[in-house]
Amino acid sequence: MDDAVADKLIDGVAVAKLVRAEVAKDAAALIARGVTPGLTVVLVGDDPASAVYVRSKEKACIEAGMNGVTIRLPAETTQDELLALIDKLNVDPTVHGILVQMPPPKHINPQAVILRIAAEKDVDGFHPVNVGRIWIGEKSGFAPCTPAGVMVLLEKAGVKVSGANVVVLGRSTIVGKPMTSLLVNASATVTVCHSKTKDLAAVTRRADILIAAIGRPEFVTADMVKPGAVVIDVGINRVEDATQKKGYRIVGDVAFATVSEVASKITPVPGGVGPMTIAMLLKNTVRAAAQGLA
Ligand code: GUN
Repeated sequence: MDDAVADKLIDGVAVAKLVRAEVAKDAAALIARGVTPGLTVVLVGDDPASAVYVRSKEKACIEAGMNGVTIRLPAETTQDELLALIDKLNVDPTVHGILVQMPPPKHINPQAVILRIAAEKDVDGFHPVNVGRIWIGEKSGFAPCTPAGVMVLLEKAGVKVSGANVVVLGRSTIVGKPMTSLLVNASATVTVCHSKTKDLAAVTRRADILIAAIGRPEFVTADMVKPGAVVIDVGINRVEDATQKKGYRIVGDVAFATVSEVASKITPVPGGVGPMTIAMLLKNTVRAAAQGLA
């Protein structure tokens, strides 16, 4: 990477480190008051990618001085058994945050699981009560970790969101929709694009800030980006690559090599949005613990 591109990078690893240091400080203050913030992650089944995510969440909790517990359940666990476990965690005073790793096995309805988690412990921000709280700008709500992480990245990179034309590419429940609500509440003018959007490139070229969250490898090309725009890449896609030991490499939703030439700032993949997600999960958990004291 040449120096001109390196200067444009928004470094998610560095920002996540800052957030995690803040979280560790807040956790220490709560511990001094007799409350150790605790996150319990529930993993049903043995999906290898999920197992990796869950281990890193537990490790990050411990590093921040918090309690990080993982409950691993067999793939045959019934929905009723899982809901009964959630009921127990909901009333356990040592558990401030509950996260059920998604997606669960096919016989379990993810929405039933999300609805069962007490909104006050829903540090994923997936419960409809939190979705609503975030939409109306109520501070007590929990925002989903990935879009919340994008907002922090923009802030730390000195990008002005208020009044900016922001285009969100993708309308998922986990990223696109909550991203939109956070941006609207930060006074951006937001356009949400998706598979039915007409003349997509004409719309994305109007963006001062373009946020790509569609899960398609290197979908955003330089002709879709206004020169000088800020580009945030939420994508994490595996593409086959015989030159790699693993047989694949990870790319974002943005064609980095060419888009980085026209953008004024850009997040890399990996090392951009990804590291922020766990940092924000820890932050939500500490907040859940603090709100329980209030
Ligand atoms: N699976 C992939 N990302 C997430 C996440 O942010 N939360 C949960 N619960 N499951 C996930």
